[in-house]
Amino acid sequence: MADTATPNVIRRADYAPPAFLIDTVALEFDLVPERTVVRNTMRVRRNPDASHASNLELMGEQLEFVSAAIDGAAFANAHAHEHGLTLDNVPDNFELTLTSICNPAENTTLSGLYVSGGNFFTQCEAEGFRRITYFLDRPDVMATFTVTLRASKADYPVLLSNGNLLEEGDLPDGRHFARWEDPFRKPSYLFALVAGKLVALEERVKSGSGKEKLLQVWVEPHDLDKTRHAMDSLINSIRWDEARFGLELDLDRFMIVAVSDFNMGAMENKGLNIFNTKYVLANPETATDTDFANIEAVVGHEYFHNWTGNRVTCRDWFQLSLKEGLTVFRDQEFSADMAGGATDEAARATKRIEDVRVLRQMQFAEDAGPMAHPVRPESYVEINNFYTMTVYEKGSEVVRMYQTLFGRDGFRKGMDLYFKRHDGQAVTCDDFRHALADANGRDLAQFERWYSQAGTPRVSVRTKYDAAQQRYSVTLTQGYGDAAPAARETQKGPLLIPFAIGLIGKDGADLPLQLEGETKASNSTTRVLDFTQTEQTFTFVNVAQEPLPSLLRNFSAPVIVEYDYSADQLAFLLAHDSDPFNRWEAGQRLATRELLTLAGRAATGVPLQLDDSVVAAFARVLTDESLSPSFRELALMLPSEAYLAEQMAESNPAAVHAARQFVRKRLANALRKDWLAVYEKHRTPGAYEATPEAAGHRALKNLALSYLAELDDPAEAVRLASAQYDAANNMTDRSAALSALLNAAAANGGSVEAQQALDDFYRRFEKEPLVIDKWFALQATQRGSAQRPVIEIVRKLMAHPAFNLKNPNRARSLIFSFCAANPAQFHAEDGSGYAFWADQVIALDAINPQVAARLARSLELWRRFTPTLRDGMRAALEKVASQVKSRDVREIVEKALA
Ligand code: TRP
Ligand code: ZN
Repeated sequence: MADTATPNVIRRADYAPPAFLIDTVALEFDLVPERTVVRNTMRVRRNPDASHASNLELMGEQLEFVSAAIDGAAFANAHAHEHGLTLDNVPDNFELTLTSICNPAENTTLSGLYVSGGNFFTQCEAEGFRRITYFLDRPDVMATFTVTLRASKADYPVLLSNGNLLEEGDLPDGRHFARWEDPFRKPSYLFALVAGKLVALEERVKSGSGKEKLLQVWVEPHDLDKTRHAMDSLINSIRWDEARFGLELDLDRFMIVAVSDFNMGAMENKGLNIFNTKYVLANPETATDTDFANIEAVVGHEYFHNWTGNRVTCRDWFQLSLKEGLTVFRDQEFSADMAGGATDEAARATKRIEDVRVLRQMQFAEDAGPMAHPVRPESYVEINNFYTMTVYEKGSEVVRMYQTLFGRDGFRKGMDLYFKRHDGQAVTCDDFRHALADANGRDLAQFERWYSQAGTPRVSVRTKYDAAQQRYSVTLTQGYGDAAPAARETQKGPLLIPFAIGLIGKDGADLPLQLEGETKASNSTTRVLDFTQTEQTFTFVNVAQEPLPSLLRNFSAPVIVEYDYSADQLAFLLAHDSDPFNRWEAGQRLATRELLTLAGRAATGVPLQLDDSVVAAFARVLTDESLSPSFRELALMLPSEAYLAEQMAESNPAAVHAARQFVRKRLANALRKDWLAVYEKHRTPGAYEATPEAAGHRALKNLALSYLAELDDPAEAVRLASAQYDAANNMTDRSAALSALLNAAAANGGSVEAQQALDDFYRRFEKEPLVIDKWFALQATQRGSAQRPVIEIVRKLMAHPAFNLKNPNRARSLIFSFCAANPAQFHAEDGSGYAFWADQVIALDAINPQVAARLARSLELWRRFTPTLRDGMRAALEKVASQVKSRDVREIVEKALA
C-alpha cells in the first residue's frame, strides 16, 4: 500500500446516496479455516434517488476474486482491485453472483470472518463485511439475507446465522449444512455467522403479546456454568423494553454467543449478538460484582439495539451516535431501573454517579485533546477510531437531555413518533431530534448545536440575595473556556442547556421555588431552567432566607459548573442536599480542590498538610449509617489520578499521586477505628448474594480494606486481607484482598503474603482466562516503588507463558492497564513507560490495527504535561508515526503530533 502522507479524509458533507441498491442477498459459505469459499447472489437495481453511474463499484478487502456472473451468465467486465470490485456497464436491474475466497485462520484483525479457539466468528461493524464478500458495505444499503453454511460436522457441529433456521442436514464427506433466513432488511454491518463446538443455555419465554421466544446463550462447553447471569439479564432486558418503551422482540429466536478474541465489548448483529466472553461469563467464583453489573448493562445494550440501531439504523457512519448514544442512554436507564426501580432515587443515583464519573474522566479528556469531535463528527480517516466516549457517553447525555426537558412521558412520545416515522429506514440524528421536537411541540433548532459543537461547555454561576425584597437571582454564563483547537473550530453559539437547580435553607431542607412572573411556587423543589443564551439571569421570588444553591442536580447536562463554594458550604451540601447526586458531587468538589492544592505543593516540593475540616467531612459520611453503603463507597472514593492530573495547568502524575496518597494515608490513619468498624460491620458472611444491597456492603467493606492498607503500620490490614483472601467465596472479595495485599506491600517492595496470594490466585484460576486477565491487570496497576518500578514487573509478565499479544483481552489486561490505568508509574521521568508504549503500539499495529489505535490514544494529551514528560511523549509518538502502517494508528498519532 502507498505510504500516503495525507490519508483519505471522509467528510459528512460529501454524503451521496448509493448509485445502486441491493434488495436480497443469498450467501453460501464453505467454511475452511485457511480457505473459505463464499458465493454471494444479490438482486441489484439502480437507485432511483441517485445520479446515474454506469459502473457498479463494490467494496472488498483481502479477498481473492474467483468469478462474477450476471443473470446466470459469466460476466467478463469485473475488475478486482485493492479496495474492491468494479463491474463495468451493468444493467439497471439484475442478479449478480460473485465467488471469492478469504482466509479466516490468518485474520488477526478480528474484523470480517476469523477463527478463535478453533471456531468461526464474524465481526462486520463498521466495515468488516467487505472482508467477507464484495458488497455495497454502507449502512444505507439494506437487504434481506439468506445464509447457507457448510462445514465439517465433527469440527463445527453448530452452524448459526441471523434470523430463523430454515433447514439443516447432512452432506457427503462428513460435512453438514444449515440454512438461515433473516426476514428483516438490514445493512451488511449487522450480518453474522458462528460455527464451531459450542453449547447453549436455553430458555423459552413469552413476549408481551403472548408469542413464544427461544433464547440461547452459546459458549464453549466448559463455560456453561457461567451463563445464568447473562440469560437472566437478557430476560430482564426483554421485559424492560416492553414495559418502558413498548418495544417487543421481533424474532422467534434470540441468540448470544461468547468469543474470547474480540475487539470491543459486544455486537448487536440481528438475532445473533456476538459478545466478548468478558461480558457474558460469570459466576461468583470468577466474576466481581462490577463484572456482574457490566454484563447486565452490555446484554441490555446489545438487546436494545434491536430497535435502536437495527430496526431503525444509521444513514451513514457520521450518524453513529444516533444508535450508540441512544442505546447507551437506554442501557443506563435499564441498569438504574434494575437497581432502584423508577422511584428509589438513592439507588438510581448510584448508577448515575458511576456513569458521570466515566464521562468526566474519559470523555471530558477526549474533548480536551486532538481527537476532540462533535457527537456527530464532520470527518474521519478511519471510522473505527470514532467509536468514542464522545459518540457513546456524551451522545447518551444528549439523549438524556431530551428526557430532562420533556419528562419520561414526553420522551416516550418522541420515541413512539420516531419508530412510527422511521421503522425500517436508515436515518440521521436530525430525524431523531425532529421526532422529539414534533411529538412535544417544541422547536429544537438550537439543540442541534449539541450534535455539531465539540468541547466541554463551562457554565459559570453568580448568585445574589436581596434580603429586603426576598429575591434570589442566579446568573448563568456559558462558554467553552480555552478549548482545544480541534474543538474550537466547531463552536458557533450558545447551547440549550437544561440546568436543574434547587435552593437549600439553613436547616438543610429544600426551599420552595417560584420564579419571577409565576403566581405560586411549583410542586417540585428542583427546577429545570431553560438556559439558552450566553448569559441569562433567573430570579426566584419569595425566598425568605439566603439559600445555598444546589447546581446542575443529577448532572442535568454534560457541562462543567464553576461556582465559588466555600469548604464549609460544600461540607453542608455533602451532609444535606436532597439530590443524592449533588451530595456526592459536593464531596468530590471538596476533595478535588484539596487534592489539586496538594498536588501543586508536591510539584514544588512544599510539605503537605490536610485541613481537619476535610477529614471531618469524610468522617461524617463514613459513620453515617443512614446512607446506603454503595453511596458511602462512592462518596469516600477520591477522584482518580487521571482526572486530577487533567485538572492541573500542567499535568504532573507524580505530584498527583503523591497528593492523593498523602490524603489516603491521612484519612486512613486519622479514621483508623472507623474504617475497622465499617470493615467488620459490612462483611457479608454466608452464601454469596448477587443483589445490589449485598454488592454495596462488599464495596464499602473493600474500600475500608483499601484504606486500611495505607496505614503507616499495615500489619493489621495485611492480616485482614490475608484472612479475607483465604476465606473468600467470591471474586469481589478475593480480588479486593489481593489488591490490598499488593498495595500494602508496595512501600517495602513487596511482601511474602502478597507473593503467596498472587501465586495461589494464578494456580487456582489457571483455566479461567478472564480471571487470569485480572491477575495480569492487578499487577500492572499496582502501586510499585522506587526499588521495584512496575515497568519491570510488566516487562517480566510480557514473557509469561500465559501472555498473548494477539488476544485483545490479554493485551488490555497487561499493556493497557499499565499505560492507561497506572499514570504515576507509566509517566516515569526516565521515559521507560513511553518506550514500552511505542514498542507495543508498533507490535500491535501489525496484528490488530483497531486494538493498536486504542493503545495509541493513551499519549494524546501529551501537550498538557510537564516539559520533561512532554518531550519524552513527543519522541515516542514520532517513533510510532515513522513506523506504523495502519490507517487506524496513523490517524491517531498524526492528529496528536499536528
Ligand atoms: N456496535 C457495537 C456496540 O456498541 C460496538 C462495535 C462497533 C464493535 N464496532 C465494533 C464491537 C467492532 C466489536 C468490534 O454495541
Ligand atoms: Zn452499541
